[in-house]
Amino acid sequence: MDAKKVVLAYSGGLDTSVLIKWFVNKGFKVIAFLADLGQNSDFKMLEDKAKKCGADKVVVEDLKSQFVYNFVFPTLKSEAIYESNYFLSTALGRPLIAQKLVEVAKQNNADTVAHGCSGKGNDQVRFEVAIATLGPNLNIVAPLREWEFKSREEELSFAENNSIPVDVTKQSLYSIDKNLWGVSIECGELEDPSVAPADDAYQITLNPKDSPDKAELVDVAFEKGIPVSVNGVALDGVDLINKVSDLGCKHGIGRIDMIEDRLVGIKSREIYEAPAAKILYTAHSALESLVLSKDILDFRKIVSDKYAHLIYNGLWFTELKTALDNFINIIQEKVCGKVKLELYKGNCICVGRESKYSLYNRKLSTYDKEDIFDHKAAEGFIKIFGLPYRQQMTNDEIRMTNDGKNK
Ligand code: ARG
Repeated sequence: MDAKKVVLAYSGGLDTSVLIKWFVNKGFKVIAFLADLGQNSDFKMLEDKAKKCGADKVVVEDLKSQFVYNFVFPTLKSEAIYESNYFLSTALGRPLIAQKLVEVAKQNNADTVAHGCSGKGNDQVRFEVAIATLGPNLNIVAPLREWEFKSREEELSFAENNSIPVDVTKQSLYSIDKNLWGVSIECGELEDPSVAPADDAYQITLNPKDSPDKAELVDVAFEKGIPVSVNGVALDGVDLINKVSDLGCKHGIGRIDMIEDRLVGIKSREIYEAPAAKILYTAHSALESLVLSKDILDFRKIVSDKYAHLIYNGLWFTELKTALDNFINIIQEKVCGKVKLELYKGNCICVGRESKYSLYNRKLSTYDKEDIFDHKAAEGFIKIFGLPYRQQMTNDEIRMTNDGKNK
């Protein structure tokens, strides 16, 4: 009998390494798929590890550029942020990995794909909704929802008995997911929401207390809502994010400590590091405030929120997402120009902005003699603007007087 073939989203951690062997024991041929989203893993080492665990084949793909241009930048343009804090770094990687799992399955005639997500998180939903949309004929297996291990100890002893390499010294207290847009950290003592994260919880940013005592200025230029250069140097998307991320890490920018609402109904405490996202959102939003009209800015907030929920809830490959992108892309046409930011001890503040599409007219806003604003017209405007409120007050007074008389 031909062995069944599964493409497994492999991270190199304990769970997915054990999973390779678990599938082999069940008669599957395993293709381990390793996605490079800028997490700086040693992919050669992980490839060997997957083979040692019993993988028939290992596919490593550098997805950094696709991640940036197809997932991160559309999200930056939309200014999507989940529950006011989370820049969605983990959530954005999932649909791309799912897309690749489906492609690799098709190329290798595999009928099954699998992931190592637990049954109580968001990622299982993101993977499976995307896989079912893009590869409706594929079987999806989520072994962590059904496997026999009742504890980490049992899993570790399975690993030991099956010669799966486990570096106990490297076993972090935390569960960490990393890519070039940010780091998500949970578990361990972070599970007590009243306790401050220990120093070692944050992985890439400097504690703002230890960051330089001198502020640093940085210029970011945008074309149609996308950052294209830093300090006058044009950079491709991946390099640009890495450059901005390094600056943010150095100044302790982008640390987030939040309670979030998971899709499966659970509140969880997670901390994040998103230095590049924090800096680029600040710059993008500063530029938009200069070039977009008030009514568009007001309406885009609704779109941003919808976009954030859609990403968080794993609905990337949907018509709604395409429709929202169309709106966002139209309003981004004028988001071109330059923003100056000051980075200092965990803060990132816009201190200057300019654009050929600027709607700012100094002659209207100035208080000096250049002023062209028609002050007299304000009087009529206020009269009409205030009309409904005066009417309301008059009505209330008449009614109260009448009520008094009738007593
Ligand atoms: N809570 C985040 C999300 O749902 C991150 C999940 C993964 N976190 C982790 N530390 N492994 O997108």
